[in-house]
Amino acid sequence: MRLALAVLFAPVLLLAAAAPAFAATGEALFIDNCGDCHTVEPPSGTAPALKGVVGRKVASLGDFQYSDALKAKGGTWTEAALDAFIANPKAYAPGTQMTAGAADPADRKAIIDYLKSVK
Ligand code: HEC
Repeated sequence: MRLALAVLFAPVLLLAAAAPAFAATGEALFIDNCGDCHTVEPPSGTAPALKGVVGRKVASLGDFQYSDALKAKGGTWTEAALDAFIANPKAYAPGTQMTAGAADPADRKAIIDYLKSVK
């Protein structure tokens, strides 16, 4: 009986243990895909700091020299705009200095969800 209960509850315990790992996925993906160039916390370094980027005006930080391409883009970083930019930076803003993004749609969603959480 005890063994049966253990077998029944083991998956529940595993799920509970895995939950924090899922929550960390977006941050881990951000570090993997974007962390070579970006930090979330200011000041900006080789790339603009991304804290609060969801809803922020495009190319609006005072401490980063944006390309003319990104400055000309204008508008606001909505989730859809971020997704399109990260999917293919050069296609979204020809002439941008950003040379890499994230090809996988699920990864992009997790990264954008993470960026939404850093305000
Ligand atoms: C190889 C370095 C590099 C990588 C990797 C990279 N970026 Fe960038 N990113 C840049 C640079 C440089 C800019 C400035 C582009 C410009 O001025 O044209 C930029 C600009 C941006 C902007 C515009 C910010 C603003 O203030 O308007 C966003 C948003 C952004 N990156 C998100 C990401 C995300 C999310 C990832 C990971 C999926 C990523 N970037 C990966 C270098 C990088």
